[in-house]
Amino acid sequence: MAEFTLPKNSKVQKGRCHNEPGPQKRSRTFEIYRWDPDDEANPRLDQYAVDLGSCGPMVLDALLKIKNEIDSTLTFRRSCREGICGSCAMNVNGVNTLACTQSIDSLKGPIRIYPLPHMGVVKDLVPDLSHFFAQYASLEPWLKAGDAKTDTERHQTPQEREQLDGLYECILCACCSTSCPSYWWNSEQYLGPANLLQAYRWIADSRDEAADERLDQLDDNFALYRCHTIMNCTKTCPKGLNPGQAIGAIKSALAKRKK
Ligand code: SF4
Ligand code: SF4
Ligand code: FES
Repeated sequence: MAEFTLPKNSKVQKGRCHNEPGPQKRSRTFEIYRWDPDDEANPRLDQYAVDLGSCGPMVLDALLKIKNEIDSTLTFRRSCREGICGSCAMNVNGVNTLACTQSIDSLKGPIRIYPLPHMGVVKDLVPDLSHFFAQYASLEPWLKAGDAKTDTERHQTPQEREQLDGLYECILCACCSTSCPSYWWNSEQYLGPANLLQAYRWIADSRDEAADERLDQLDDNFALYRCHTIMNCTKTCPKGLNPGQAIGAIKSALAKRKK
């Protein structure tokens, strides 16, 4: 059997223990991935004992408390604090999710937090999403509807508008793409579930006139057909969306065109 050995500097080592100063009413342990590109050290897993008696209910509340009161060097992204911006996506106890909508009490045992898997790491919990967003830009994610002949709005029927439900809500957090085995191994060419759902958002829009051009771009063994319907993407989406279904809809639209 083939054996694989990780390069020495990629092994995650046991890190430091940090305790919140003062007495704790309800202590909970967080184990957090730490890596700093500016030192030569291996990544490590630091432990933090946090008093939940003086902490908000979500994982992001605990991270903010750690940063503000225990260890200001901890680095992570966040902005909206309410599941809208997608910037606090990370892997919590083995599941990709949004730290700001993940409740602490629903997690068992010590809470282990890593950056989104299979992406480069900028620092600590911050993944490098440059390639992910370059792929998004390649979709030309805007309404292509030729020159407006009038200055009136482009109307949709309620039924046409309904076609966008389950698509427009995507916040591009990348939880789904980074849980997709096909994206892990082929992300150079495969667009991945998040970007394919976004591509379908424009194909399904009755006001957009470039569906054929968009489908031409997707009709590619690697860009689209690397999806093997494993459905990890749909299972993990913290917004309850179904990227697997959107990918199926693109494949059906392509199949119909070929008939
Ligand atoms: S489909 Fe869901 S998991 Fe994927 S990027 Fe959009 S919101 Fe995030
Ligand atoms: S259904 Fe497709 S996109 Fe979703 S996890 Fe599976 S292979 Fe990836
Ligand atoms: S901080 Fe915006 S989604 Fe979590």
